[in-house]
Amino acid sequence: MLNRNFDLEIKSNHSLEKLNTFGLDVASESFFIVKDLKDLRNILLKNKNKKITVLGGGSNILFTKFLDGLCLKIDLKGIDIVEENEKNVIVNVMAGENWNDFVEWSVNNGFGGIENLSLIPGLVGAAPIQNIGAYGVELKDVFVSCNTININDQTEKEFDEKSCLFGYRTSRFKTTDKNIYIITSVKVRLTKEKHKYNISYGTVKEEIGNREINLKSISKAVIKIRKSKLPNTDLIGNCGSFFKNPVINELKYLQLKKKFPSISVFKVKKNEYKVSAAWLIEFLKYKGKSFGNVGVYKNQALVLVNLGGATGKEVLSLANKIISEVYSTFKLSLQPEVEIL
Ligand code: EPU
Repeated sequence: MLNRNFDLEIKSNHSLEKLNTFGLDVASESFFIVKDLKDLRNILLKNKNKKITVLGGGSNILFTKFLDGLCLKIDLKGIDIVEENEKNVIVNVMAGENWNDFVEWSVNNGFGGIENLSLIPGLVGAAPIQNIGAYGVELKDVFVSCNTININDQTEKEFDEKSCLFGYRTSRFKTTDKNIYIITSVKVRLTKEKHKYNISYGTVKEEIGNREINLKSISKAVIKIRKSKLPNTDLIGNCGSFFKNPVINELKYLQLKKKFPSISVFKVKKNEYKVSAAWLIEFLKYKGKSFGNVGVYKNQALVLVNLGGATGKEVLSLANKIISEVYSTFKLSLQPEVEIL
């Protein structure tokens, strides 16, 4: 057993450029890669008064300035089936696993439930924080629980689905308990048979066409759609959807529909509608436009892109420009989906 000295492994003034999908060149005061839980507890204990920033895949973060304190890059690995019966498996996945690798693992093993969440960037540990979702499925639909470590006292705690307070791109980890817990692993329940395929989303149905509906064909269709709409982060810095779709009531919906007949709105439930933020941004002629080093992606107006050498402040100023124009035109408040640091 190696007798490792933590102080030696903490790097100072470490560049995070390769660790955020916007590709922004910022540095953190100190930086540590977490490979096991014991290290994590020790490092938290030794840095009690420091500001802690937890980094997963860096695919939902906008760095606007030098990062003070200690940045922990989660690299905990492992995928294990922890329970199994004829119908289901419960899989425990460590937080540092790549989300899409886990989806591929499930599809290849014939386990159903997350095939619609193919190609979502980021790590497993970040998935519950904003209850990732796409094409009619959300993490919460398969979620059993997650294990966490409290940053302040290093105690472990497990949260089940109910106690995570999941909502549209949100959870307790993004709201009431922000910056308190580090998610170390996630348990999901997947089906072994009688999969409940979800192809309610029009584009998925169209993409599958006459092919047989199964885990692989759904995953393939989703991957194809995502690749056509969303830029590859290896080539163009971005964070997927930058904004959430505003949620409104029926009265507001009717007012908007009257003034903007072609507006794209989806009914969520009684008296609750989701407005396509992409439509609003496209209506304001931002789609495909560039502003210096930043721009709005040509195939999806929700995606802000780093065209090369951008700073976080430039991205933020474009985001604010869009927010204020959307407000003055539609009286709707766009909320960023990405975490702005
Ligand atoms: N639309 C436009 N212009 C565009 C793009 C879309 O008008 O440039 C309108 C169209 O009416 C289209 C509708 O918006 O039918 C929906 O578009 P899309 O299917 O691309 O979905 P979205 O609402 O824009 C959300 C998620 C995505 C997720 C897709 C598919 C949010 C904030 N975004 O986007 O999630 O992949 O649905 O389910 O909810 C992410 O979170 O990073 C992300 C990419």
